[in-house]
Amino acid sequence: MKRLLVLAAAATALFAQAQTFPGSKPISIVVPFAAGGPTDRVARDLAEALRKPLGGASVVIENSAGAGGTIGATKVAKASPDGHTLLLHHIGMASSPALYRKLQYNTLTDFEYLGMINEVPMTLVGKPQLPANTYRDFENYIRANAGKLNIAHAGLGSASHLCGLMWQAALNTKDAMTTIPFGGTGPAMTSLIGGQVDVMCDQTTNTTGQIEAGRIKAFAVTTAKPLSNNKLLKDYPTLQEMGLKGFNLTIWHGLYAPKGTPPAVLKQLNDALKVALKDPEFIKKQEGLGAVVVNDGRIEPAAHKAFVAAEINKLKPVIEAAGKYAD
Ligand code: MLT
Repeated sequence: MKRLLVLAAAATALFAQAQTFPGSKPISIVVPFAAGGPTDRVARDLAEALRKPLGGASVVIENSAGAGGTIGATKVAKASPDGHTLLLHHIGMASSPALYRKLQYNTLTDFEYLGMINEVPMTLVGKPQLPANTYRDFENYIRANAGKLNIAHAGLGSASHLCGLMWQAALNTKDAMTTIPFGGTGPAMTSLIGGQVDVMCDQTTNTTGQIEAGRIKAFAVTTAKPLSNNKLLKDYPTLQEMGLKGFNLTIWHGLYAPKGTPPAVLKQLNDALKVALKDPEFIKKQEGLGAVVVNDGRIEPAAHKAFVAAEINKLKPVIEAAGKYAD
């Protein structure tokens, strides 16, 4: 009888929590990279689009950068599962299990999956002072200057790191460039523009404005097909066209809650995400930066999780072939 009463009380508490969610307490979206970069950009646009479907709730961004996104992800995995702390993360959710052999969380079992958000192509870019203007000249320049150049990334396990690894492995120039880690490609971009770093592979959500303004040089896109619908990037070659057989890298972002968040709260968050992803203003902002907002079954938590599980399996051999680990 006593046990039954305890269970009933727990069920009532959970129900009451779901009834009042989100209440007056803000919802914090943890971005595991520095402010001003591509993940931060998606999160800030999404936070705005989520406010209305969450009944006017305050949705704030918390940048928790470091270790290629794994510090922020750890923080959310260990946060109180009440729906008030969420994680917005990218492909690093799937690359870090192969890169970090001692992760403090299990990607598939320590989170509730809330749905995918967008897909973003990457661009191979260089500092404005580089003498090359085409991809071919750029590649020749890298080979001719092996050991003298550097490549920026947002930490081991970040999207920029993964892209740099795959690109250098495909070129067979594994250690031709020194890698310089930043807390995110927002600050790395400042150094690229300033000429302190030579090369970077970064998402179009961070590079578009800088290429447009002529502050950096773009050489190629990382997608399998040319970006024919992108006014700015449609004439840049793909790395496959440049001879890097099979090269195909697109970054994706998803939303997560700590494991154990009540199902009713998860449903509210997923419903709100679905509304946000249809918000014309959100779509317009994302498309303007070359991103494609998810408009398929991966908005459902189970499909999101299945997609990440498949990406983990896909990336493991790629990372092992590149032969680099974070620990
Ligand atoms: C990355 O390379 O993973 C991203 O650009 C991270 C960021 O948002 O800065």
